[in-house]
Amino acid sequence: MAAIKTIGVLTSGGDAPGMNAAIRAVTRSAIFSGFKVKGIYRGYRGLINDEVIELHSQDVSGIMQKGGTILKSARCKEFTTTDGRRQAYDTMRKHGIDALVVIGGDGSLSGARQFASEFNVPIVGLPGTIDNDLYGTDHTIGYDTALNTVMWCVDHIRDTATSHDRLFFIEVMGRNAGFLALNGALASGAEAAIIPEISTEVDQLAELIKYGFKKRKNSSIVLVAESPITGGAMGLAERVRKEFPQFDTRVTILGHLQRGGSPTAQDRILASRMGAAAIEALLEDQRNVMIGDDDERMIYVPFSKAIRKDKPIDHDLLDILKRLTI
Ligand code: F6P
Repeated sequence: MAAIKTIGVLTSGGDAPGMNAAIRAVTRSAIFSGFKVKGIYRGYRGLINDEVIELHSQDVSGIMQKGGTILKSARCKEFTTTDGRRQAYDTMRKHGIDALVVIGGDGSLSGARQFASEFNVPIVGLPGTIDNDLYGTDHTIGYDTALNTVMWCVDHIRDTATSHDRLFFIEVMGRNAGFLALNGALASGAEAAIIPEISTEVDQLAELIKYGFKKRKNSSIVLVAESPITGGAMGLAERVRKEFPQFDTRVTILGHLQRGGSPTAQDRILASRMGAAAIEALLEDQRNVMIGDDDERMIYVPFSKAIRKDKPIDHDLLDILKRLTI
C-alpha cells in the first residue's frame, strides 16, 4: 500500500449537527500529522462531478458551532452504480487523494464499503446521523442535538396539550429506529413512545389505550418513530379517531426541524474526538472501519458491522418510561 499523502473528506446523506465540528477535527488533525486535505462538496456526488477544494487550517475556523455542513451533502443515486464509482475514483486520482474520511449514516457507509472493496481505497467512516442507528457506537454525531431539539419541541407542545386536554401524537425522525422517540419521551416526560423495534411484539397503541389513557390525566403526549412499521403519527391518530372517538387527538410531525441548529457540547466533543480518531486510524493503517464510541472509548468498527440494521434499543428504558408515567 502506497503511503498516504492526501486525505479527502466529505459529508454524505442527511446532514447532522456536529458534522462541521467533525470536518474541522479531520482537517486539523490531518494537517497536524503532515497530510494535505481536500474537501469534497456534496458527498459522493461531488466526487463524481469533481467538486474538490484544498482545505487549510483557517478554512475550518469558526464552523464548529454551526449546524449543517459547510461541505454540503447529498444522497447520490449515481454512486450506487459501477460507472458512478469509477468516475468518483478517477476524481480521486486526479486530485491525488489517497484516502477518504466519509462522514454520514448507514447509506453513506454502505457506499464507502463497496467503493473501498472495488478500488482498494483506504476509507475511514464517522457516524454522522441524527438517527443513532449505526451498530457498534453508543452515539452518532448529531443525535444528542436532535434529542435536545425533540425535548424542546415536546415541552412546548405540552403547554397546549394540557390547556386543551388533548392527546398528541408527535412524530420524530429515526428512519426505522426508535432512539429519538424513546429517549425523547424519557427526556420530556411523554406518556409513551411507539417504536418500530417492538412493533412486532405488541400492539403498542392498544396497550397504551388499555393501561395508559384510563388514568386521571387529561392530556397525553405520545412520541412516534417515523416508520411504516409504527404507522407513523398520522396512522395512529387515524386509528384512535375510529376506535376511541372520545379522545381529542392532534398530530405534530417535527420533520427536518430536528436536523438543524447549533450542535450541543456533547456532539461537538464527540465529533472532535471522532475526527481526530479517524486520522489516527489511517496512521495506524486501519481501513474500512467506522470510528465508534464504546463507553467513551474510541473504537474501530468494521463497516460490515456498523451498517447492520439491528442496533438494539435498551428495553430497560421502555420499562422506566412506563413506570414514570403512572
Ligand atoms: O437519516 C437521517 C434522516 O433525517 C432520517 O431520520 C429521515 O428519515 C431522513 O433522513 C430524511 O431524509 P431526507 O432529508 O432526504 O428527506
